Amino acid sequence: MTSTRKLRLGVNIDHVATVRNARGGKYPDPVKAAHMAAAAGADGITAHLREDRRHIVDDDIARLSRELTIPLNFEMAATEAMLAIALQTKPHASCLVPERRAELTTEGGLDVAGSVARLTPYIAQLSRAGIRVSLFIDPDTRQIEAAKAVGAPVIELHTGSYCDADGTQRARELDRIVAAAATAERLGIECHAGHGLSFETVGPVAAIATIAELNIGHFLIGEAIFTGLDAAIKQMRVLMDQARQP
Ligand code: PXP
Repeated sequence: MTSTRKLRLGVNIDHVATVRNARGGKYPDPVKAAHMAAAAGADGITAHLREDRRHIVDDDIARLSRELTIPLNFEMAATEAMLAIALQTKPHASCLVPERRAELTTEGGLDVAGSVARLTPYIAQLSRAGIRVSLFIDPDTRQIEAAKAVGAPVIELHTGSYCDADGTQRARELDRIVAAAATAERLGIECHAGHGLSFETVGPVAAIATIAELNIGHFLIGEAIFTGLDAAIKQMRVLMDQARQP
């Protein structure tokens, strides 16, 4: 792997659906947001179909897979029901995430090390269908080694603890992400990152040269209220590119 690759931006549109679902009905339409994100320079669209369908619903996934001209990263829990939807939808990628009904958002990484026997055949089925599997994990060597063991070509490092921390604690969390990205590189696993990233926090993560993709949602959708989605995404792209410059 080289360290000069372009850093891709995946835009997560879940929270457009959150606003829509607050009232029911059709507006705002997350698929419209996906098209706008693509026009603003997003390299991919991420959408999480949760078991409780609290934001994205099945019809959104069906429409995204029909209409998108950029890759769809389908976030899902590693359940049989989601496997069936993924195999039918055939997204470019599936990102496997842990899911608890009571959580506000995906609170921690997947315990790959504790689920090797279950995840290995699960990932094999997705891979056989041509779907690139990534595992959303904490920046932890044991989990990255387990991701290698279960045959995942990609990991996505959970940046939530880094974004939530301040000062020296944030610096420590960043060190963990840097080390995890180096471990992924050594093991030949493509490394992505995301969760909680904002204009303030994106730079140091984007600067890690072996990270290939950032997936960013909540902050961008919130910022779109003030500046519009197009401007928010373009500004994020500028900050990512600036951080990536040697
Ligand atoms: N990546 C993964 C795997 C996620 O679960 C989420 C949240 O849905 C994100 C990225 C985006 O996080 P945020 O919405 O906080 O930017």
